[in-house]
Amino acid sequence: MYKRRDVLRASAALALVAASPWLQAAGAGGLLTRKVPTTGEALPVIGAGTSGSFEVEAGSAAYQQLKVVLKAFFDGGGKVIDTSPNYGGADRVLGQLLEEGGWHPQCFIATKIAADSQAEAQAQWAGTLKSLRTDTVDLLQIHNLRDWQTQLPYARELKQQGKTRYVGITHYLNSGHEDVARIVRSEPLDFIQINYSVNAPHAARELLPLCQDKGVAVLVNRAFDDGRLFARVKDQALPAWAAEAGIGSWAQLFLKFAISHPAVTTVIPATGRPDRQLDQLKAGHEPLLSQAQQQALIKQFG
Ligand SMILES: NC(=O)c1ccc[n+]([C@@H]2O[C@H](COP(=O)([O-])OP(=O)(O)OC[C@H]3O[C@@H](n4cnc5c(N)ncnc54)[C@H](OP(=O)(O)O)[C@@H]3O)[C@@H](O)[C@H]2O)c1
Repeated sequence: MYKRRDVLRASAALALVAASPWLQAAGAGGLLTRKVPTTGEALPVIGAGTSGSFEVEAGSAAYQQLKVVLKAFFDGGGKVIDTSPNYGGADRVLGQLLEEGGWHPQCFIATKIAADSQAEAQAQWAGTLKSLRTDTVDLLQIHNLRDWQTQLPYARELKQQGKTRYVGITHYLNSGHEDVARIVRSEPLDFIQINYSVNAPHAARELLPLCQDKGVAVLVNRAFDDGRLFARVKDQALPAWAAEAGIGSWAQLFLKFAISHPAVTTVIPATGRPDRQLDQLKAGHEPLLSQAQQQALIKQFG
């Protein structure tokens, strides 16, 4: 059971979201979108992650806050949410929130296989559907390339059965980019998911252009370097050019950096806070950053 104080806090957050004039305007106008190359489906550039931020107890104050986060996300035009069966119950929390909010039809669910054998993957997949409270997902990714020679064919089998609309692979470190690129060159894929941020722009060298060339959609994880970038900019003013790029916070700037690469389909930052969710959605609008602005950021954070 959560306390009265927590209920009040969640209600205040809900009022903040409902009253946001920006959100009312954004919901109508919509976020920028990018097309999934293999189908032409348009997806909003700002998505959400669930690692850490959704690892909460169902019914707790943090859970009630996440309900407000998701309301802000969907009202603001968000669609893509990434999760995984190995995120400490985050997929279960997401499934319950989607059901309680009636958001399943609006949500593009990206989840993963993180297993070492087909038998393990089959059992995990059954659990995934139960956790997410759905019969199908939109994207099924092989987590960190784990056992990918077995798991990618299994994911494709599930795609053939209509259980997932897309398949992909993920990694979160620069050291994984070479292996990811090798698989992009040799296997047909709908999506990859990788790290790309102002302090880790490595993917722009080879992997992102390769995905553009091969027609593979890209989800970007760790755009905030798992939150560490905020400690680096504590008490620092935004660059002088930020306002003219429509940027009002460091979070917006880090996200705009990610979506300014044309190969990027959707960036998936995680947050458990409604005010941060509102802020993140503001990054999904023109103008994008110029090459000079992107280079200035890489120089500052590299
Ligand atoms: N191998 C893989 O497949 C893989 C690996 C990594 C990540 N991912 C996916 O990508 C998603 C994003 O990556 P990530 O969660 O590792 O890192 P991230 O999005 O770079 O950072 C998330 C962290 O930033 C904090 N944060 C957000 N806005 C903030 C603000 N304005 N000020 C201060 N802190 C702020 C969040 O805390 P609060 O919740 O308190 O706001 C959270 O701890 C994951 O959730 C997951 O879905 C996949």
